[in-house]
Amino acid sequence: MNQIAQGAEARLFKAGNSVLKDRFIKSYRHPELDSKLRKSRTKKEAKILLKMKGLGIPSSEYISHDEKEMKIEMKFIGGDVLKNVFDSDFEKYSKLIGKNIALMHKNNLIHGDLTTSNMILNDDVLHFIDFGLSFVSDKTEDKAVDLHLLKQALESKHFEVFEKAYKTALNEYSKHYEEAENIIKRLEVVEKRGRYKQQY
Ligand SMILES: Nc1ncnc2c1ncn2[C@@H]1O[C@H](COP(=O)(O)OP(=O)(O)O)[C@@H](O)[C@H]1O
Ligand SMILES: [Mg+2]
Repeated sequence: MNQIAQGAEARLFKAGNSVLKDRFIKSYRHPELDSKLRKSRTKKEAKILLKMKGLGIPSSEYISHDEKEMKIEMKFIGGDVLKNVFDSDFEKYSKLIGKNIALMHKNNLIHGDLTTSNMILNDDVLHFIDFGLSFVSDKTEDKAVDLHLLKQALESKHFEVFEKAYKTALNEYSKHYEEAENIIKRLEVVEKRGRYKQQY
């Protein structure tokens, strides 16, 4: 088994055609809280992966999970982490991002961590990964915040193309989701609130 990545809270190993995501102990957290968080994130991620599979939205395909061991097994996706290739063809990739978010939101799935490190491009198909902060919600507010997190991620990691990229993503989102207009209206409220908070 080869380690392929170590994120903020998990190690990822590749074994054959599958990937094992192993949430490790974070010793700075109180042990009980740590175990609770790792368990709940593993459970959440497995649940959302199963839903994504059921809906046919491209993501890492669920194989199995173990809540005691805090491990999830899923299919390995070849290709590139979007972060590494995004700037080279950002209009095309922004459209893929907007469409995938629309598919998720239509089905009341909130990703919770929409960064280009949590997206893998394989043969022109964009797969979303990393559902540890995901949840199910039909609330306009939750969907708006999801889009706001995408905006912040694009602004911080792809600032040179950010404005056009974000506009393109929202435009495509609107094409594929009939509720988009309401969500984008709420997004403006969310952002005003953010600016207000930053001042004080
Ligand atoms: N199914 C997968 N196929 C291929 N690579 C993956 C897969 N899942 C995760 N990875 C790689 O591991 C990295 C970290 O995975 P991720 O689920 O985002 O963990 P973390 O919660 O630590 O951020 C990803 O950025 C990607 O490079
Ligand atoms: Mg991640």
